[in-house]
Amino acid sequence: MNECILRMKGISKSFSGVKVLDDVEFNVRSGTVHSLMGENGAGKSTLMKCLFGIYQKDAGEIYLDNKLINFADPKHALEHGVSMVHQELNQVIQRSISDNIWLGRYPKKGLFIDEKKMKRDTIELFEKIEIEIDPNTPLHKLSVAQRQMVEITKAISYNAKVIVLFRN
Ligand SMILES: Nc1ncnc2c1ncn2[C@@H]1O[C@H](COP(=O)(O)OP(=O)(O)OP(=O)(O)O)[C@@H](O)[C@H]1O
Ligand SMILES: [Mg+2]
Repeated sequence: MNECILRMKGISKSFSGVKVLDDVEFNVRSGTVHSLMGENGAGKSTLMKCLFGIYQKDAGEIYLDNKLINFADPKHALEHGVSMVHQELNQVIQRSISDNIWLGRYPKKGLFIDEKKMKRDTIELFEKIEIEIDPNTPLHKLSVAQRQMVEITKAISYNAKVIVLFRN
């Protein structure tokens, strides 16, 4: 069986003295898909927010690839291969798929944006997850499901080891 890529152990979190998470354990092996289920207010979002450093856990440890980690914020998590894909999409729908994926980190050729590389890299990522859409397509022409695939592609482009599909 695959190694645990992510281990959350003994996670506790209280808000104003009310214990929302009490000694929670959550393990994820690579190559597996999990869904976190529970009634409203059960603490699912809180657990994930503790992983991403949106909330600071009161107790417990988180290991990524057997290394103890404590992310300061989602950007820090992303840099270490833990990526959050929000259900509420935050995209620039007038812009193309490649623009949305590489926004803020465009590949450069001298002073200019290397459009060809951007398109090539996007197609390469799309091949990995088996989608066939022209990367130049503006997002407003896509369905919501396709736009979500673009977000997942973006997460993969950061070499994500763990992708959390998240809703508040
Ligand atoms: N920032 C906060 N301050 C105070 N209480 C909070 C905060 N965030 C979450 N809670 C409380 O913690 C509990 C767990 O909330 P959480 O959002 O994690 O539940 P959930 O399982 O994601 O629920 P849902 O299915 O509605 O998304 C709830 O009682 C909620 O009111
Ligand atoms: Mg929630």
